[in-house]
Amino acid sequence: MIPRLKPTLGWAELKAAFSPPGKDDVRLFEEAFAKLMGQKYALAFPYGRTGMILLFEALGFQDKEIICPAYTCVVVPHAIVLSGNRPVFVDCAAGEFNMDLDQVESVINENTGAIIATSLFGYPVNLDKLDEIKKKHPHVQIIQDCAHSFAAEWKGRPVQKEGIAAVFGLNISKILTSIFGGMITTDDEAMFLKLKNLRNSRLKAPSWKKSGKRLLYLLAVYPSFWGPVYGLINRLERSGFLNRFVKYYDETKIEMPEDYLEGLCNIEARVGLTNIKKYKQIITNRRVAASHYFDFILENSDFILPLKVKGATYSHFVVQVKNKNHWLLSTIGFGLQLGWLIEYCIPEMEAYGAANPGEYPIASKYALKTINLPVWGGVKEARKVTSLLDNVSMG
Ligand SMILES: Cc1ncc(COP(=O)(O)O)c(C=O)c1O
Repeated sequence: MIPRLKPTLGWAELKAAFSPPGKDDVRLFEEAFAKLMGQKYALAFPYGRTGMILLFEALGFQDKEIICPAYTCVVVPHAIVLSGNRPVFVDCAAGEFNMDLDQVESVINENTGAIIATSLFGYPVNLDKLDEIKKKHPHVQIIQDCAHSFAAEWKGRPVQKEGIAAVFGLNISKILTSIFGGMITTDDEAMFLKLKNLRNSRLKAPSWKKSGKRLLYLLAVYPSFWGPVYGLINRLERSGFLNRFVKYYDETKIEMPEDYLEGLCNIEARVGLTNIKKYKQIITNRRVAASHYFDFILENSDFILPLKVKGATYSHFVVQVKNKNHWLLSTIGFGLQLGWLIEYCIPEMEAYGAANPGEYPIASKYALKTINLPVWGGVKEARKVTSLLDNVSMG
């Protein structure tokens, strides 16, 4: 079975996880991460969303409107709401996955605190438009959401550097991983110091229990991605049996994980520090896999290909199909698992007021019509994927 995602974890990460803890593990991870992203500072958090909540607080936001995509990971508006602010949703731009920045302009007012500029699926946010917005509305902060994109580039400019701070997620589905975890990077010294103080006062030190759980989780990840085991996991996942472990949201609730205020463990920091050494290779794999798909998947009545964008890091290669379930189910029989990331339009969720499906038409369409192809294994796996897809009849 070719899995929809696979973390790039090897012996080095396992060895790092079992090596003796050092008191500087987290700091070393932060320094290496900041260097990788070309930024002055990085601060580690147990989740990217925890970093976001404390970042809003560090910016002094309370009862502010924060503009974010209708089509993004639902934990982003959760962080906005749980920090005492209000999300203002904006649909995707026509033909793109990223938020429509023209619509963003039209919802800015004097109570707007920030724009969450998300480079979804690794597609760089349009920094030229963002510059214009910033010039016209200097009171609005730009926060880059790089959880999917890491160092994607818009016309040669790395997106993470263009704003007050950037947010990264580091769970095992992300481009880089520290088992769980998140990072905030910034070039602003005052913001760094404020956020660091807040983090140190708000987060409790990770318990032994948490470290033990993270170690067990890591140990379970290795065999899980071995073909026959993965096939079984896939069957259990489809039956809903694993929802308790893999479903990260409830349509009706705005909530955080129980341990979201417990700091990043040393084990996670050591795994992350080891994993980031593979960054170049990981990004190259994704780009060559995407390039193979662009060359070998025919755009037709059933497959609409995504945009080809220079500077994209392709955390996911997302296509639109007419009949998503047909593709998800029929490829399994051929040993290929396709992904179904972001299968919701957030404002349509019960927790966010169940907006009418016509209000965010593009996000609504993507929620129903997108699947993603594996990009983790470079051109070798991508070739297998395209030859397997040839066997599947159109939906
Ligand atoms: C686009 C986006 N932003 C932010 C996050 C938050 O990251 P975390 O899961 O570490 O809280 C995610 C997580 O999956 C995400 O996909």
